[in-house]
Amino acid sequence: MSELKVVIIGAGSSYTPELIEGLINRTAELPLRELWMVDIEDGREKMAIIANLARRMLKKAGLDVSVHETLDRRAALTGADYVCSQFRAGCLDARISDERIALKFGMIGQETNGLGGFANACRTIPIALEIAREMETLCPDAWLLNFTNPSGMVTEAILRHTTIKAVGLCNVPVIMQKGVTKLLGGSSDFIMQVAGLNHFIFARQILQNGMDKLDDVIDEIIAGNDPLVPRNIPPFTWPAHVLKGLRMIPCAYLRYYYMKDDILKQEIGEANGEGTRGEVVKALEHELFEIYKNPELAEKPQALEGRGGQYYSEAACELMSAIHNDKRIIMHVNTRNNGAINGLPDDCAVEVSSVITRSGPLPLNVAAFPEDTLRLLQLMKSFEQLTIEAAITGNRHTAWRALVLNPLITSGTLLEQALEAVIEENKELMSAFH
Ligand code: G6P
Repeated sequence: MSELKVVIIGAGSSYTPELIEGLINRTAELPLRELWMVDIEDGREKMAIIANLARRMLKKAGLDVSVHETLDRRAALTGADYVCSQFRAGCLDARISDERIALKFGMIGQETNGLGGFANACRTIPIALEIAREMETLCPDAWLLNFTNPSGMVTEAILRHTTIKAVGLCNVPVIMQKGVTKLLGGSSDFIMQVAGLNHFIFARQILQNGMDKLDDVIDEIIAGNDPLVPRNIPPFTWPAHVLKGLRMIPCAYLRYYYMKDDILKQEIGEANGEGTRGEVVKALEHELFEIYKNPELAEKPQALEGRGGQYYSEAACELMSAIHNDKRIIMHVNTRNNGAINGLPDDCAVEVSSVITRSGPLPLNVAAFPEDTLRLLQLMKSFEQLTIEAAITGNRHTAWRALVLNPLITSGTLLEQALEAVIEENKELMSAFH
């Protein structure tokens, strides 16, 4: 098997040790030769800490892999086999500013949903496209595994505007899968089918031994036993009528839509107390990097599990291996719809259970969504597509059209002021708007 060059963009992220662990656990399947870490000047120091930890982890595992750290993205991309994208445009400060602006104007402040998701997309998509275009010339055969948020919109922008082979990832379906495993008594001999958009998915079927276990799992969740929620979303209980009414299991992010007012109240409380999620994460990151600096440390520390992005590595490394080894296993990824969800365009990105092959993900067809949920998915897809267009063109009219569709976003004067505040705060990273 030929040896691989893997590139991590945004390597200074505190999540990177998870990826390294995932690669180490799969050396038989993914013969790694070179690991290239890329970041920007602001992330240089963090990247150096991570690169040293990675070297210690690889050495402890007895692996002879060269670890390069660079600010020169083009050098890293040249001849790459797999590129993992996990950068955060504007770093945590931009996330915090999104959260605070949204709350100031009476909206939920969240990094991938509502106004925050829009702002994040506008900062990120131009950079993601720049990277994908560099890949077109420097490593046209490489696969891009995107978990840069907002993952669904970033993946769709790349699939629509470049020729790169890209798959979008999220840990939410992985967490759901693990949660269902717990609820089914620890057995993983079931197939769960999910479908929807990133951070807007539903579990549609849970097949085990010829039976659909969806109702059993729903009953457990209603009874207050819900291990399907990522760490970054405070524990909550779904009202019975949501789950019984839908007869699907919404991912925890759908709480922002189905329980909007409860969340807003909770976020206001947090923002006035321990801080917004971005602020909490900033403190946690600081602690994590202190731990990573320890020259004795040669494994992923337990403390990383306090982050919402748990199991990213599992998703990313398993996906890499499934493509590389043509495993034909089912994973939940962001890919072109191609008819899997009836009622959404064929060429848009959806998050669906797919068979992963060397040629890419083959999305599994999903039973028709009930009309009410389908309308919601269509609305959110229009929001996403207009947001992508606004991110590229910087057209305020397009931005407005996107924003007024989103159920988490206000309208009128408040929205006008909030949009201007976002554009003003992001002078450099939203240059298309200036
Ligand atoms: C979730 C989401 C990710 C997100 C993460 C945030 O699991 O799926 O898209 O990046 O949480 O976690 P954090 O610890 O940064 O709030």
